[in-house]
Amino acid sequence: MNFKNKVVIVTGAARGLGQEYARQFARRGANVAVNDLRDCSETLAIIEQEGAAGIQAETDVTSAESTREMAQAVLDKFGRIDVLVNNAALYGSLSFVPFDRLDEDEWDATMNVNVKGIWQCCKAVVPAMKEQESGSIVNISSLAATYGMPNGLHYTASKAAVIGATRGLARELGRYSVRVNAVAPNVVNTDATGEVFGDKRDKVVDVTMSQQAIRKPLETEDIVGAVLYLGSDHSKLTTGQTIMVDGGTVFL
Ligand SMILES: NC(=O)c1ccc[n+]([C@@H]2O[C@H](COP(=O)([O-])OP(=O)(O)OC[C@H]3O[C@@H](n4cnc5c(N)ncnc54)[C@H](O)[C@@H]3O)[C@@H](O)[C@H]2O)c1
Repeated sequence: MNFKNKVVIVTGAARGLGQEYARQFARRGANVAVNDLRDCSETLAIIEQEGAAGIQAETDVTSAESTREMAQAVLDKFGRIDVLVNNAALYGSLSFVPFDRLDEDEWDATMNVNVKGIWQCCKAVVPAMKEQESGSIVNISSLAATYGMPNGLHYTASKAAVIGATRGLARELGRYSVRVNAVAPNVVNTDATGEVFGDKRDKVVDVTMSQQAIRKPLETEDIVGAVLYLGSDHSKLTTGQTIMVDGGTVFL
């Protein structure tokens, strides 16, 4: 897949999966804008090592003003926006406990970042995509949404909302040839997964694999293909869909 002259935004790209998406778009020729609440200079260096142009911004995806500034900075630098990967989320910092022990503030924060954050980023980039009459938005959901992850109701509900938002937005934006799809990964070996499961991580990976048709652990590079495909013109008539990258756990 070739992204030469395309402009891609990846949110939450300071580390983990977001950083890998940024690397792989850059490798295929895209100009890549990355943002996060964390410093993205490591990701920016990776983009430049791949021979691509990039910019980074400190962006809070929950803020209309911050996401508008992000989109404007990308337009000022590159003149267009072809792909938005809505990857930023609260995951590693969350408590995974029975539903009636979840903290109310944490519930609100999860919805704020994981759901409202996607809405804000879409509002910020869609005017440019409408004007171009093209664009692809890839929202990162999770297997939690379709499997029904126990002991993480706020995260599970937020990632199910991502699938609903993907479908609704796909209907609204189809007339402008702007596509909206989602990718739902199973447990991936990232720093955030380590933060969630601590010393139980290996056991969780074993149990997760035991439910997969293909019994292999998922690494960051395993998720990239679906994101690249949905971002590319190869999927130009695909919209409103969710691709599960889960080793074959839930069949939709
Ligand atoms: N790792 C997994 O097993 C897994 C599985 C399914 C889905 N996912 C999803 O994939 C994505 C990336 O996961 P990861 O494991 O790389 O996690 P991660 O925590 O490393 O990445 C999320 C990034 O989002 C950023 N972020 C949080 N709040 C933000 C805000 N308000 N504004 C901007 N940035 C913000 C964080 O700083 C972080 O860098 C998340 O959407 C996660 O829910 C991960």
